[in-house]
Amino acid sequence: MAEEAFDVVVVGSCMTDLVSQAPRLPKAGETIHGHKFFIGFGGKGANQCIQAARLGVKTAMVCKVGKDFFGDNYIQNFKDNGVHTDFVGQTSDAATGAASITVNDAGENAIVIVAGANMLLGREELQKALPAISRAKVLVCQLEISPQTSLEALRMARDNKAKTIFNPAPAIPDLDPDFYKVSDVFCCNESEAELLTGSSVTNLEEAHRAGQELLKRGCGSVIITLGPQGSVVLKAQESTSKHVPVPAVTAVDTTGAGDSFIGALAFYMANYSTMPLEEMARRANQVAAVSVQAVGTQTSYPFRRNLPAELF
Ligand SMILES: Nc1ncnc2c1ncn2[C@@H]1O[C@H](COP(=O)(O)OP(=O)(O)O)[C@@H](O)[C@H]1O
Ligand SMILES: *[C@@H]1O[C@H](CO)[C@@H](O)[C@H](O)[C@H]1NC(C)=O
Ligand SMILES: *[C@@H]1O[C@H](CO)[C@@H](O)[C@H](O)[C@H]1NC(C)=O
Repeated sequence: MAEEAFDVVVVGSCMTDLVSQAPRLPKAGETIHGHKFFIGFGGKGANQCIQAARLGVKTAMVCKVGKDFFGDNYIQNFKDNGVHTDFVGQTSDAATGAASITVNDAGENAIVIVAGANMLLGREELQKALPAISRAKVLVCQLEISPQTSLEALRMARDNKAKTIFNPAPAIPDLDPDFYKVSDVFCCNESEAELLTGSSVTNLEEAHRAGQELLKRGCGSVIITLGPQGSVVLKAQESTSKHVPVPAVTAVDTTGAGDSFIGALAFYMANYSTMPLEEMARRANQVAAVSVQAVGTQTSYPFRRNLPAELF
């Protein structure tokens, strides 16, 4: 059977964001009136896959949603973005992952996440997706699904010579040390680097040091994203740690910036495999910097046609 080959395969999460804006957050037992409600597509895995797809590579998503309205809707969202959905499973044993978010007028929020169907993604689905994973140029995983499933997907990719990007988000303190060994690029933000190394990461100097510590654990390269400061890039073959700044922009909503960065990085690794990693990070910074200038998560992710030609 002839199987299609994909540039970027993401094994990860899908979440529906249910966002209510209200003057304040309700207390226990209280009902209050809000002034705006909207539904958004989220989940780190899906976000990263959609950003990569919008930059113009062939992508496939391996994930699990519920046999419900939100699941059907999410599959349509993937199709609308040109993401291949044959490996999106639907289960009647759990609901599509959902995040109920209340935001008050001061911009503070209270969030309940129910991972639901995401936690049911396992070995069976990975086996079904093996033809895609084994021929992928780049495989991307995070930690919003069962860590064992992520680790197994990374191993499958490695065994088949696909490049791997691992984003340990949300970070867990007792991360299996094998995650470092199966990561070509280990990419996290400051708070995740802090949790994983146990030392504070609040400035460039500390980021370089945390990167060195993570690199020692066995990954090929480490990237730590630093919000408006861009990112730092460390490679196992070189003993240097490079700061890659991002141009100053006016940020209006930084939700999902890290996922935009990782989706863009996956795109560059797949489509420009010989480009130096610092240059990929420099360009991924610029893609993510565009995403922070518009509201929403996926709604803020740029398409190739809206980006300057020098990024391609
Ligand atoms: N205020 C900002 N100005 C410009 N770029 C930004 C800004 N915030 C984030 N970015 C870009 O997005 C990337 C990821 O942001 P970061 O805040 O580190 O991740 P996360 O979303 O995980 O918190 C940064 O490396 C940078 O390229
Ligand atoms: C890093 O990412 C996590 C999600 O995994 C998020 O909760 C946290 O706010 C981010 N930290 C920074 C400094 O942006
Ligand atoms: C990069 O993508 C373009 C299409 O956008 C394709 O023509 C080209 O072959 C790709 N290059 C690599 C190295 O994958």
